[in-house]
Amino acid sequence: MDRKPLIAGNWKMHNTQAQSLALTNDIIKGVKKLGKDSLPTVVIAPVFTSIPGVSKLLNEIGASFIELSAQNCYYEQKGAFTGEISVEMIKEFKANYIIIGHSERRQYFGETDEMINKKAQVIIKEGLTPIICCGETLEQRELGVTDSHIASQINKALENIAPVDIANSVIAYEPIWAIGTGKTCDSAEANRVIKGIRNAVAQVAGKANAEKVRILYGGSVKPDTIVEQMAQSDIDGALVGGASLEAESFVKIVEGAMK
Ligand code: PGA
Repeated sequence: MDRKPLIAGNWKMHNTQAQSLALTNDIIKGVKKLGKDSLPTVVIAPVFTSIPGVSKLLNEIGASFIELSAQNCYYEQKGAFTGEISVEMIKEFKANYIIIGHSERRQYFGETDEMINKKAQVIIKEGLTPIICCGETLEQRELGVTDSHIASQINKALENIAPVDIANSVIAYEPIWAIGTGKTCDSAEANRVIKGIRNAVAQVAGKANAEKVRILYGGSVKPDTIVEQMAQSDIDGALVGGASLEAESFVKIVEGAMK
């Protein structure tokens, strides 16, 4: 199955609007130099306050080879939900993706599988693509419950979503112990877990749809890890945190994902 690789930069809570614009400019320049032909899907996820400015910049320059993502959303359309932002509000700035269920959101902001499922449903209804994150803690890995934990996260996230919409969604496998630690998960092991995710998807959406879903690896991805990661049968790209905050390393990762 020919799945187009996808490299997404998750900027987390970094960069003012001015810094976001400078970084976006440098990324555009770097990615342009790579040529357009075999580029992966390239996605950047700035903080909410930078989304309007980055969106305008991408649009003005005509940099359609870089797509925009939010890092989170709320599942209600509008109303008395102080501090939250709806999918419609994100859509206004031409973002195509929204990351949901990142382990930091689950850990620090109490995001549950049920909330992630509600968010996924609304994102799809609005015509955007969810990047659904899953992953185990070190404790779960040592207890040997990685596979069952992740299958459960995936099953819950995909409840009541049509198989065709599941096929167009993106999943990111991010072992929590590998995030921001410099400890990348062994590529073969990441591929094994990702195959398990694809099997879980096949059970709810059918094998053909599961073959279409792009499943990323995330957790200390660096320019020198990406080629081996992309060489795995089931790893379709990367969700990059730290290394996406500098244009040079992010562009090198994009280059490493070119076919
Ligand atoms: P990292 O973060 O690349 O800094 O490990 C990945 C993520 O949390 O998405």
